[in-house]
Amino acid sequence: MDNSEALLQGKSRDNSSDYHKLSGILNYEIKNNEIRLNFKHASLAIRFLTADIFRVIMAHSDQKINYKSTEAVIEHNLTYDDFIFNEKDSELIIKTDNLVLKLKKENFLLEVFNKQGKLIHKDHNEYALGWKKQKVRAWKSFEQSQRFYGLGEKTGWLDKKGRIYEMWNHDTFLPHVSDTDPLYQSIPFLIAFNPKNSYGIYFDNSYKSFFDLGSEGQDYFSFWAEGGELDYYFINGPSLKEVVSKYSQITGTMPLPPKWSLGYHQSRYSYYPQAEVEQLLKTFRDKEIPCDAFHFDIHYMDQYKIYTWDEDRFPDPEAMFSKMEENGVKAVTIIDPGVKKDPEYKLYQQGMENDYFCKYLDGKVFIDKVWPGNCAFPDFTQSKVRDWWAGLQKDYTDLGVKGIWNDMNEPAAFNKSDTMDVEVMHQNDGDSGTHRRFHNLYGFLENKATFEGLKESLDNERPFVLTRAGFAGIQRYSAVWTGDNRSFWDHIKLAMPMLMNMGLSGITFCGTDVGGFTGNSNGELLTRWTQMGAFVPFFRNHCEVRAVSQEPWSFGEKFEKIIKKYIELRYKFITHIYNLFYQASKTGIPLMRPLIMEFPADRQCQNLSDQFMVGDSVLVAPVYQPDKDKRMLYLPEGKWIDFWTKEVYQGEEHLIVDAPLEKMPIFIKAGSIIPLNDKLNYIGEKEIECLELNVFLNEENNLGSYELYDDDGLSYNYENGVYNITEFKYQYTDNQIIFNIDRKEKNYQQEFKDYKMIFNNLNKDPLNIYVDGNQLSEFNYSDNRLEFKVPVVINKITIELS
Ligand code: GLC
Repeated sequence: MDNSEALLQGKSRDNSSDYHKLSGILNYEIKNNEIRLNFKHASLAIRFLTADIFRVIMAHSDQKINYKSTEAVIEHNLTYDDFIFNEKDSELIIKTDNLVLKLKKENFLLEVFNKQGKLIHKDHNEYALGWKKQKVRAWKSFEQSQRFYGLGEKTGWLDKKGRIYEMWNHDTFLPHVSDTDPLYQSIPFLIAFNPKNSYGIYFDNSYKSFFDLGSEGQDYFSFWAEGGELDYYFINGPSLKEVVSKYSQITGTMPLPPKWSLGYHQSRYSYYPQAEVEQLLKTFRDKEIPCDAFHFDIHYMDQYKIYTWDEDRFPDPEAMFSKMEENGVKAVTIIDPGVKKDPEYKLYQQGMENDYFCKYLDGKVFIDKVWPGNCAFPDFTQSKVRDWWAGLQKDYTDLGVKGIWNDMNEPAAFNKSDTMDVEVMHQNDGDSGTHRRFHNLYGFLENKATFEGLKESLDNERPFVLTRAGFAGIQRYSAVWTGDNRSFWDHIKLAMPMLMNMGLSGITFCGTDVGGFTGNSNGELLTRWTQMGAFVPFFRNHCEVRAVSQEPWSFGEKFEKIIKKYIELRYKFITHIYNLFYQASKTGIPLMRPLIMEFPADRQCQNLSDQFMVGDSVLVAPVYQPDKDKRMLYLPEGKWIDFWTKEVYQGEEHLIVDAPLEKMPIFIKAGSIIPLNDKLNYIGEKEIECLELNVFLNEENNLGSYELYDDDGLSYNYENGVYNITEFKYQYTDNQIIFNIDRKEKNYQQEFKDYKMIFNNLNKDPLNIYVDGNQLSEFNYSDNRLEFKVPVVINKITIELS
């Protein structure tokens, strides 16, 4: 490393002019869905997956094109050969149904136009694609008005413009500040946002890579990797939603999680002994604070040896789990990848005997320190190792464990580099490589093994896996939490854009340690953090070993009451949240969304980093500063209804709203329907007999709809069609409201028997109500709110208005 690199902490500016560039196109060939271009010392394949997605792979230094994808890419059969090809003097032109690509012959350069002929993407005039020894790099032009989103777990604002980002999974314990980089995950997926023509670039390269998004004000952005292929996918939107959804066609969506995992999780480093856990359980249930999971951190193990129990601390884990289960609390146990080097330890013996561990080329097993002291590290690139690991899950599920929390899987090691020596080899079933190639995939492959093992051993129950490290596509196996944050106010603020961008990068199921991990939380901070956490996809309170307790009751009654109210609120929204998870599992669209995703034309939303949407209708504006009883927020176009007071606000306005400690501002977009359920102490505690359908009416002449998915929340029976889909639709005209219920799929024996219909913001007296033609005698109307109950089997409600 030279001095300038040291100053940049490894983020070398990597001089563009040092690279070899593509020369002019010598010749080309078209075969099926691909055009192959040959250059003096390089070749390039452009493969079409759909009319909107194409893949670009470069081979340099006279190597052959390598079509092998990383593990992030799912098996798919996307292929598109319906393009029209044309050759002109200076360029080759390829037309798909949605895009036109122009390839300049003389100095290679790619331009992409949309159907209307507008230029939407362009290689940089000077550099385009290049290589320098093993490095590969691409340069792209951009306009200053463009915004950048995605890139997974990154600090900073919503818009990622103006910085260099590094993709190298890293255990970053030092305080995460607004330019700390990298953290634990690497998701080399970038979204270039433009209100009308957004596109994405997924760089399928697992080596250490970088994205420079105009860090020196230059008129191009660039991405490069320290090895491997220049292999990227161009994903046309044109909308942000379409970019995100199409990205999931390449790296997959999150499978439907067990519903309990969407409830509240309580954790700390660590709850022990067994009696403390039992007391914790009793306290939650005595106080009737909802909770669905306890996490067991490293102290449950015998000398931190994974898949063992400290018998003094936990004499009978099975009995403890079964008691928890009776009270509706699931057990999630932490697992670190390091296997203690101890010749008398079964796992270490198995690993050594079967060649499961990562080793150097000379055969020496890589050993380094983690919590248990010296450890060996399973080589998850080998399928036999993944099978072994998958098989280990049964040891825990047999005891009653329902979820695994994979930590320290960057992998972390207590040395200067914080990780494995990059010269260590991974066998990768015959296609071996160094840790330089597999580092970013290490946690990903561990999670794959864990998920598959749990799935096998849980017998038709959906597993829950939580991870710290990951790579693109991690959503297929695991939820993600953002690692070791601190009990700082700033970390509530930092979490919002980070989690929103993770959602845009495929990771719907993400969250942050509520209350803060390192340092001591306090009542006000925990209260505000819990308010936000209640609307974040993964909702877990966790803190470190030295920190003061931060369970909901830890800071006195005043705070406990509010914290409880917000955990209860999470459960009131659980049907809606589960429904959004269902949608994410189908489309890849996250439930925690930046406002720009819903209001792409609104400039105010482009870098709005401290409020978010839950789905398309709930706007949440957490308070992230102490001593505040007001908050400024922005409401985009439309009418918005204050969730608490039901007051109606006109959008496209900045507002200062009341936000005393007990109130986090929540607004509902007028026109929407939101299902809310009764308070629950845990998922499945009792049948939800009656589901509230809250209609938040807009002006008259308004339409609204909501599609509700419902299943048992636990098994895979939905894969055999055991689920319901019900569509609710209403039309509000000047003298009536017609509300239709269409039970489109009804194979699941639904829990709820009735709907409590609530029409908010109804400014006209209801005269008569007919349910499937029969007049309803009982209803309540006051304060612009109409309420009545109907059985779920009905089809149509007509409300005549004065
Ligand atoms: C790591 C994890 C943290 C955990 C601790 C002990 O720091 O990020 O969540 O509590 O290790 O296992």
